[in-house]
Amino acid sequence: MTIIHKSVLVNEVLTYLDPQPGKLYIDATFGAGGHTRAILEREPNCRVVAIDWDDKSIAQFAPPLVEEFSGRLQVVWGNFAHLYKVLKNAKIASFDGILADFGTSQMQIFEREGFSFLVDTPLDMRMSPSHHRQTAADIVNSMRAEDLADIFYQLGGETFSRQIAKAIVLARRNKRFVTTLDLAEVVKQAVPYRAYHKIHPATKVFQALRIYVNKELDNITSFLSSAMDMGNSGARIVCISFHSLEDRIVKEFFKNHPCQVGRGVEPITKKVVTAGDEELAVNPSSRSARLRAAKICIND
Ligand SMILES: C[S@@+](CC[C@H](N)C(=O)[O-])C[C@H]1O[C@@H](n2cnc3c(N)ncnc32)[C@H](O)[C@@H]1O
Repeated sequence: MTIIHKSVLVNEVLTYLDPQPGKLYIDATFGAGGHTRAILEREPNCRVVAIDWDDKSIAQFAPPLVEEFSGRLQVVWGNFAHLYKVLKNAKIASFDGILADFGTSQMQIFEREGFSFLVDTPLDMRMSPSHHRQTAADIVNSMRAEDLADIFYQLGGETFSRQIAKAIVLARRNKRFVTTLDLAEVVKQAVPYRAYHKIHPATKVFQALRIYVNKELDNITSFLSSAMDMGNSGARIVCISFHSLEDRIVKEFFKNHPCQVGRGVEPITKKVVTAGDEELAVNPSSRSARLRAAKICIND
């Protein structure tokens, strides 16, 4: 089965990015290229440089788009946390707007190793193996119970974090965790059934490990400061988060860098923007999407 990622909040991205003729936009999270396509179609005289650290997504989705939008689209591999370096390699010194749609794509969850507790694959979870050495298996096979519990609680909001961490440490006395189902089974046994009748009991643990393995929150912090430093005056920064921790980083960053002296940002979304009923009806993954946008200001 081929999973196709459905882009979220496309109209809202176009409203807040507001692509203009002759300008350059960065899509920092290319994925399946849905937002990139929407930007190029909305403004036929703009250019896009798109980034992703998942080489498989680039190999699958970039070539037809690059051909279709010949001369207007460049897709580069890299970590958006290293925005300056990635754009410098692409010979880009500044831009007029930047979009980041954080997290994972549906293809990554269902087709890459270790993301889903529904498919038995090696417990890996790295979106870009070249950027990270530690897999999710390395972490559950070696970390102290207290540290595992902190990860599950802080990054997954898992209420039974301590029980699950203890169960993992106990289970690994007999065997190593190798696949996703090895972990999902231990988590399932460790939590009371009544607590998890709506979602799979391993949902929060898997989410927490994914965020930890890929350093997702640190990446967002670095991304925001490089975006503010590299964008032209008036350039827009548009961010879509799927997790309250991500959204908080964006919200705080916008609040803590007001337009005063030097570079700053002025929020252009008064409050967080979410999907409307029409989108919710056709795209369930838009349910947790949260968009915030700001404009870069440069004062002497
Ligand atoms: C939610 S998907 C983006 C979907 C895309 N907007 C679309 O319309 O198809 C997130 C993408 O960001 C990429 N990604 C996540 N963290 C990244 C990082 N630090 N650097 C570069 N790409 C990253 C993932 O590999 C994934 O392809």
